[in-house]
Amino acid sequence: EKSGYDHYMLKEIHEQPKALRQCLRGRIDDLDGTVDLEDLADLDHEGPIQFVACGTSYHAALFGAERLQRAGVRAQAFLASEYASDRVPVDDETLVVGVTQSGETADTLRALREAARAGATTLAVTNTVASSAARECDHALYIRAGPEIGVAATKTFASQQLALALLAFTLSDGPTREELEALRDIPGQVRTVLETTEARAVAEEYVDADAYFFIGRGYHYPVALEGALKMKEITYRHAEGFAAGELKHGPLALVTEDTPVFAVVTGDDETARKTIGNVKEVEARDAPVVAITDGESDVTRYADHVLEIPAVSDLGGSVLANVQLQLVAYWVANLLGRSIDKPRNLAKSVTVE
Ligand code: M6R
Repeated sequence: EKSGYDHYMLKEIHEQPKALRQCLRGRIDDLDGTVDLEDLADLDHEGPIQFVACGTSYHAALFGAERLQRAGVRAQAFLASEYASDRVPVDDETLVVGVTQSGETADTLRALREAARAGATTLAVTNTVASSAARECDHALYIRAGPEIGVAATKTFASQQLALALLAFTLSDGPTREELEALRDIPGQVRTVLETTEARAVAEEYVDADAYFFIGRGYHYPVALEGALKMKEITYRHAEGFAAGELKHGPLALVTEDTPVFAVVTGDDETARKTIGNVKEVEARDAPVVAITDGESDVTRYADHVLEIPAVSDLGGSVLANVQLQLVAYWVANLLGRSIDKPRNLAKSVTVE
């Protein structure tokens, strides 16, 4: 059932183009140039939006919240385990979105129930039809990634990113023609990324590193967090993700020639230039730099290795960059002989608080 792959994780990484196409299927109206989410036909919401989620799904939630904020919608992402309706302003004007692949995560279900008691409308963004989250929430949006066996979430994260981008477009002004085109191109571009081989070479080079750091800004900040989570989860090595700007506020003290820093930089705008500034800071401390980039900026000048992605919007770029980081984590874990599909101490679905 692993279709020739050594691990489910690698199989599921390679299933991403298909998963993403399934996520988009029938949800883009070409004639009107609109996003059409049939699952949410009866959702009509104008107030603030709160996301609740755990782990990888929380990283997707951060991504979704940022998309909405950029569209002028009041949106915030919370760790479900820290969400408390008596501290967070939530009422019947609020839409609370639980992002949960399994639909069974206890922390997320509790947060959703609490929000519902406070009068909020609830929406489950999930991979699992008839899961507790899907059944209990007022609405459900399916990410349609197909079953994921590996404990490490891979294709479900990419599908969450895409589903949340679609959701953000429905809850705000809707996409421009270019944004719509960009969404539609993502599955094919993921395929292009999967054809690259550099991630394995990077894993071989840094398999003995002391620690791995990941930095990004904006849409790439959740990708930095996710890159680090994937790395620690399946390699058992120390890895941390930081907002690129935070590096100089403490973590820079950890940076040495034995701590590769993975920097996600796309485009050549102000955001890219600022992250490149942070890259220069780590380079000055002799840390190896791995740039995950579309090559639009001069970040490659400061990088020891480049993990290439196609040039797209920063939204799409963060989906693509994450795929490269999945591959690096996979290959490091593989070289270390780890139990990749079932890492120690972890379960696919966490049903206790
Ligand atoms: O099923 P969920 O999306 O609610 O799961 C949430 C987390 O437990 C999950 O994303 C976890 O962090 C991943 N296994 C990490 O790869």
